[in-house]
Amino acid sequence: MTTTSPSLAGRRRVLTGITTSGTPHLGNYAGAIRPAIQSSIEPDVDAFFFLADYHALIKCGDPLRVAQSRMEIAATWIAAGLDTDRVTFYRQSDIPEIPELCWMLTCVTAKGLMNRAHAYKASVDANLEKGEEPDDGVTMGLFSYPILMAADILMFNAHRVPVGRDQIQHLEMARDIAQRFNHLYGQDLFVLPAVQIDEDVATLPGLDGRKMSKSYHNTIPLFEGGARALKAAVAQIVTDSRLPGEPKDADSAHLFTLYRAFATHAQADAFKQALADGLGWGEAKQALCRCIEDQIGPMRDNYARLMANPGRIEDILQAGAEKARRIAVPFMDQLRAAVGLRQPAAAGAAGGRKTDAARAGKAAQARLVSFREADGGFRQRLFAADGAELLLSEPFADPKQLNQLGRQVAQLDFAALAPDADGQVSLAVAGQCWARCLPEALPRVQQALASL
Ligand code: TRP
Repeated sequence: MTTTSPSLAGRRRVLTGITTSGTPHLGNYAGAIRPAIQSSIEPDVDAFFFLADYHALIKCGDPLRVAQSRMEIAATWIAAGLDTDRVTFYRQSDIPEIPELCWMLTCVTAKGLMNRAHAYKASVDANLEKGEEPDDGVTMGLFSYPILMAADILMFNAHRVPVGRDQIQHLEMARDIAQRFNHLYGQDLFVLPAVQIDEDVATLPGLDGRKMSKSYHNTIPLFEGGARALKAAVAQIVTDSRLPGEPKDADSAHLFTLYRAFATHAQADAFKQALADGLGWGEAKQALCRCIEDQIGPMRDNYARLMANPGRIEDILQAGAEKARRIAVPFMDQLRAAVGLRQPAAAGAAGGRKTDAARAGKAAQARLVSFREADGGFRQRLFAADGAELLLSEPFADPKQLNQLGRQVAQLDFAALAPDADGQVSLAVAGQCWARCLPEALPRVQQALASL
């Protein structure tokens, strides 16, 4: 079993990122946040949600806006009910392995592939239309955007990536890049991620009936501005000029689409009937406000509490980053070794051993080396296939007991191991501790033990 094996946790890894360049609106909530939180509760889902703040730098050069947006989006997800203990919720810029992987992927990505990216082509087309140079105002960040996104996904070997339709091409590119890397470095290092488009998720219309979007200036705020801002926005929803008492067709009114996204079926049916019976638009707007408020009002209180306590948000994000890095750090070691950038200590050991292995005509393997210390105690050292030392066992008076424990530890359920108060994990059977190691090392330890 390798550290990249998806079956390690036995659950499907679902991952998605949210660019931190704006303030979440009602459309983001109904179209992305709410369904993502719902799916994260499914028993077979191992969800990774992150704030794509490096991506934000590509489209937003305003440091205050980026900083504020990171807070608002983090607080929104937590207030909306995300269980941050269950999922892995982190900030992209807290995982230095992501930009490192991004570079490795950049080195195998064909420039021609990036030339075909829709977002880049749209900029070029707009420039040509204006009679400008094709690449006017195009940064390398924009050009390479899909590679950073591929790194986000491949770093955690996600199986499924729920995104909007505009991201389908980026997912195809991530698969392309993963395949090329796997092909070049001769191993199944990366899982090929599948795009997930949720057809039944609500795409909310904005005030004017077009898709709700910041760029159309037609959004309804989610939490910011409180109930008053919600009310003020709803008052601006465009309707037709039918008067109270005149029958209205709910299905052609985007006000009804908004209502339906927050109501039960029964409520929606009753509302539709009321409109057909002549309910006035003014009253309909009041009903819409109440309906939205029922769902998001309580969350808004949590949101306000979190925004008033940034330290709490930071603690949650730091815990998330630690959890994410328990996967990213050992996987990055494996990737570095795969491309020939093994850490110097490990390289020395492996270099020597490789010659031995080559002489013996077989592939390098993980090893468990037993030895006796000067004080008479017996210990074991575990080495990975690349020669890196993974751990040193506790000392034992009885070498047989030591050997037996080492074999039993290999059968442990590693996914269930949790660090002790000092941050180290004890590999123990029936109260007997064989060895202790850092949680980051667990996947490699497990892999090495399983291959002995
Ligand atoms: N590009 C995505 C968007 O604009 C955000 C994003 C960044 C993302 N990295 C990702 C989404 C990785 C899914 C997976 O919506």
